[in-house]
Amino acid sequence: MSDRKPLLRVTRRALLSSAAGAATLAMTPRLFSPAIAQAAPFKVGMMLPYTGTFAKLGQFIDDGFKLYVEQKGGKLGGREIVFTQVDDESKPEAATDNINRLIGREKVDLVVGTVHSGVAMAMVKVARDTNTLLIIPNAGANDATGPACAPNIFRSSFSNWQTTFPAGKTMIDAGHKNVATITWRYTAGAEMIGAFAENFTKNGGKIVEDLTLPFPEVEFQALITRIAALKPDAVFSFFAGGGAVKFVKDYAAAGLNKSIPLYGAGFLTDGTIEAQGEAANGIRTTLHYADNLDNPANVAFLKAFKTRNGKDGDIYAVQGFDAAAMLDIGLTAVKGDAGARDAMVKAIGAAKIDSPRGPLSFNKAHNPIQNIYLREVRNGRNELVSIAQAAVDDPARGCKL
Ligand code: PHB
Repeated sequence: MSDRKPLLRVTRRALLSSAAGAATLAMTPRLFSPAIAQAAPFKVGMMLPYTGTFAKLGQFIDDGFKLYVEQKGGKLGGREIVFTQVDDESKPEAATDNINRLIGREKVDLVVGTVHSGVAMAMVKVARDTNTLLIIPNAGANDATGPACAPNIFRSSFSNWQTTFPAGKTMIDAGHKNVATITWRYTAGAEMIGAFAENFTKNGGKIVEDLTLPFPEVEFQALITRIAALKPDAVFSFFAGGGAVKFVKDYAAAGLNKSIPLYGAGFLTDGTIEAQGEAANGIRTTLHYADNLDNPANVAFLKAFKTRNGKDGDIYAVQGFDAAAMLDIGLTAVKGDAGARDAMVKAIGAAKIDSPRGPLSFNKAHNPIQNIYLREVRNGRNELVSIAQAAVDDPARGCKL
């Protein structure tokens, strides 16, 4: 992990436009009206990991969001969109200060963040306390759309439960009865392994051992040696970003990819596949995306992302892109008047989005309802095998909405 100080970057355009806005208000106070407020830029605060093990994931979310806004000519619902950003470094202990800075000092209209479940839960608390609009473009912490659900909080991503629950049945169907699990010891790891185990054991499977290490450590050797000794039928895992690259390479270097099939939440091989190279071949995962989903929205998205960024899009870029689509739907419904919060929330909650991932809608807790796909790494891509479970809806346990 980097030890750099959290980075707060305000775009030059945002500074200029807010300075100009302030000057106008100072000179002509009587002219201030909702019409002027609507004409002012709408400010989005990106709170994402731009450094550390999840850095690439944060950048792809950022790129996906901006791609959507650029495709709409820089405006959504008639409002110019400006950005400010903070690097959350995937550090929960800094999260409250970071989001407070965006809300208090930067006066953002919307916060988009983040990747890490622990950081996201601190953000959810502040968003609830300050009634700030928050779109979570990755972090799966079940509680964000469970007991802590709120009208002003949406996810464009998934709940941790949602991505791995279907894998429990998938692995039974593939004939794997005795499985070892491995993950980082933090919210996302525990919840993803927990949901997998819930469905796997319900269908007659046995977890032979749960292996963990602290987030974001990457000293996998002792755990891989343990897997070799246990000789399970297969392994189910959750790692992401830089850690996932190293785990997959270490697993293959130990030769286990030849004898003990590796499965996981799709984050294991999404956004990481290029760096993993041959070591990723044959890995099977479940996720709300596959590279070769053959729908027009995905084909157009991948082409546009490649043109803008010179890189292949992935699930993180899709989640950023869809977060901007959600904002577009909300702002368009209120003709740019973000003060009409209830109408905005209602419009986003009722949205049916033709996402690159396939059909996307929202449950009462504002968590996506979406297909979860079984994918396999072939030819350096996460290729679709089948729909593991269609239109998966998180149970939103504890949500009072
Ligand atoms: C999470 O902490 O919720 C998380 C992080 C990285 C992922 C997925 C989930 O790729």
